[in-house]
Amino acid sequence: MGCAIMVANMKGGVGKSTLTCYLADYFRQYQKKRNLSLIDTDVQGSSFEMLEADGGFENLRHLPIGDRYDAVNVVTVDTIVRNHLSAAKDLLLIDTCAGKPDSICQIAMMCHCLLVPVSINWGDIRPTRDFIEEIQDRKDSSRAITPHIIVVPNRIPYQQRDYSRLKDALSELDVVIAPGLSDLSIVRHQTEKFAGIDPTKGTRFYEEIIHFGNFITEYILGGKLDSIYANNNVIELRR
Ligand SMILES: Nc1ncnc2c1ncn2[C@@H]1O[C@H](COP(=O)(O)OP(=O)(O)O)[C@@H](O)[C@H]1O
Ligand SMILES: [Mg+2]
Repeated sequence: MGCAIMVANMKGGVGKSTLTCYLADYFRQYQKKRNLSLIDTDVQGSSFEMLEADGGFENLRHLPIGDRYDAVNVVTVDTIVRNHLSAAKDLLLIDTCAGKPDSICQIAMMCHCLLVPVSINWGDIRPTRDFIEEIQDRKDSSRAITPHIIVVPNRIPYQQRDYSRLKDALSELDVVIAPGLSDLSIVRHQTEKFAGIDPTKGTRFYEEIIHFGNFITEYILGGKLDSIYANNNVIELRR
């Protein structure tokens, strides 16, 4: 089976496009055997522009999906996701817009995993929780274990390592909190000229993004979360 990973959050400016680009570069460097494809569904096209400027991504497409006038693109993305899921070595990364258009939520339900970047500020945490609840409801009503919802603490200030507020706010929800990513000025400046992970070498962010990529490789691509959830179901049935 192939794998489709969507980066989403109804809150804008939390780092969706940034995470998409760095993870794309991680997969390019460390998952060479996989056929990597990228779709930017945000009208703004930030990650499309960043990755296009990099020049090293062949299967890169901009297929905007918003609230209106996007029926053709919705069908195209839907078809691409289905095709990828049935091709063994395929790995598809999808960046999305702010808000929660129904079409995006529907495509999310086809993906293996939803990465939800968020800062540890309350102003970001609250809409993030609303967004996760929406996806959780859809999962519950179709009794699905995917998409696995992985919250990614992002733009963590250097001195701040305490995620307890985030953990408390999400405690009722079935999510995994990934290892967090620091706020780094090089990252902010790469918005204009993206050159991948390497320029961040020597920083904490570098260690963290590699660690994060390894985490996704092991738990999502390696199927570890699938087996944890499958075993959980077995335990519940026995009870
Ligand atoms: N870890 C980080 N360190 C520093 N700046 C970051 C980090 N993650 C995101 N940013 C910056 O935050 C802003 C919003 O990020 P972006 O990826 O465009 O968010 P979104 O796609 O969710 O709207 C951008 O200027 C980006 O460079
Ligand atoms: Mg974006």
